[in-house]
Amino acid sequence: MNKSSLPTGLKDVLGALLEDHREAKKLFKDFEKAKSSEEKEEIARTVCEALTLHTQLEEEFFYPAVRELESDSIKALLDEAEVEHASAKELIQQIEGIGADDALFEAKVTVLGEYVSHHIREEEEELFPKLVEEKVDLREVGAAMEEKRNELVAH
Ligand SMILES: [Fe+2]
Ligand SMILES: [Fe+2]
Repeated sequence: MNKSSLPTGLKDVLGALLEDHREAKKLFKDFEKAKSSEEKEEIARTVCEALTLHTQLEEEFFYPAVRELESDSIKALLDEAEVEHASAKELIQQIEGIGADDALFEAKVTVLGEYVSHHIREEEEELFPKLVEEKVDLREVGAAMEEKRNELVAH
């Protein structure tokens, strides 16, 4: 597949999402390696914030645009993504409400990492390639998504 033939919007949008995925995976690795509970709490807070931003951007801009393609196989993937986001958000909420002194703190962050890596794999290996295949034009989506990202990061 010649990437240069892709509509720019698709490359930009997938590129930004892939970058978020890489960052999240790195944070979960850092969490695993962290020694002190202060460090673990700090990383957990960072990863929860990053995932909240990422899921919000996907749900508000990316998924609805992709859903418009009206493809059954894409629809099934988006439905799964919705369920997976909901489970992740539920766990994020729990983690944000506790500290490293909680008996289940480590377990909750670890399980969140497992959910997220499963979800990332589905997006990157199943959903994104379908969009590349169909050369979806996401130019408008990309611009709106980045505007919202900057707005949310500024706050
Ligand atoms: Fe997602
Ligand atoms: Fe994602």
